[in-house]
Amino acid sequence: MISYPAFGVQVTTPRLELRAATDDLLEQLGTLVRDGRAAAHPLPYDDPMSLYESDPELREQRWLQGIWRGRGRVEPDFWRLYFAVIVDGEPVGMQDLIGDRFSTLGTVTTFSWLSADARGRGVGREMREAVLHLAFDGLGAREASSDAFLDNAGSNAVSKSLGYRENGTDWDTRQGEPALLQRWRLTRESWLQRRRDDIELRGEAACREFLSRTA
Ligand SMILES: CC(C)(COP(=O)(O)OP(=O)(O)OC[C@H]1O[C@@H](n2cnc3c(N)ncnc32)[C@H](O)[C@@H]1OP(=O)(O)O)[C@@H](O)C(=O)NCCC(=O)NCCS
Repeated sequence: MISYPAFGVQVTTPRLELRAATDDLLEQLGTLVRDGRAAAHPLPYDDPMSLYESDPELREQRWLQGIWRGRGRVEPDFWRLYFAVIVDGEPVGMQDLIGDRFSTLGTVTTFSWLSADARGRGVGREMREAVLHLAFDGLGAREASSDAFLDNAGSNAVSKSLGYRENGTDWDTRQGEPALLQRWRLTRESWLQRRRDDIELRGEAACREFLSRTA
């Protein structure tokens, strides 16, 4: 019996690992959150977002509580798998996979952040590829979506380079200010054309079984 579907899942690429965000890993990632290393400019996150909290202790606490709440919500139409991104043995950020009406539509979306000192070296792209491999190959997803504010060059470049197609724009707010989001969509067919054979999955069958039992 597993207590939460991400526990036991591991995705390994030549450059990094996605490991289920256990409390030990969250404690290590919490240091990055407290130190403000999940922050970025232009502001990348839509509201509400614990990472915008200005007080470091409160920021870490709210961020952690949000993850605990997310772990507790595993429903047919919504679940969220939280992964720590491990490079050279160290957690450097998070890559989450979110099932959005997965049981009926097979659709997923993703959310991520990297420590400021780990950005711009291809890790962001590699961790998205890792989580897409889990979604499509491991869990049988039909389509993945992503969105990012128009001025989030890194996230939009990752989506574009992995074969996502533009899927319109939406308004949202960041720290209360309206801004346009670019929406992206990646079909299973497009992903299959780029499917990598050097990414390994572990524990995905038990995870898939767990999620199917929530349906
Ligand atoms: C978004 C994020 C995860 C991307 O990770 P990363 O490691 O910096 O990105 P990579 O080094 O893999 O780069 C991927 C692509 O983005 C481009 N890129 C990355 N940062 C960029 C920047 N600041 N300006 C322009 N292009 C950028 C790279 O050139 C590369 O493009 P290519 O595939 O055409 O060569 C990371 O920048 C981050 O954590 N940002 C803050 C949080 C965030 O924005 N989260 C997403 C919320 S929607």
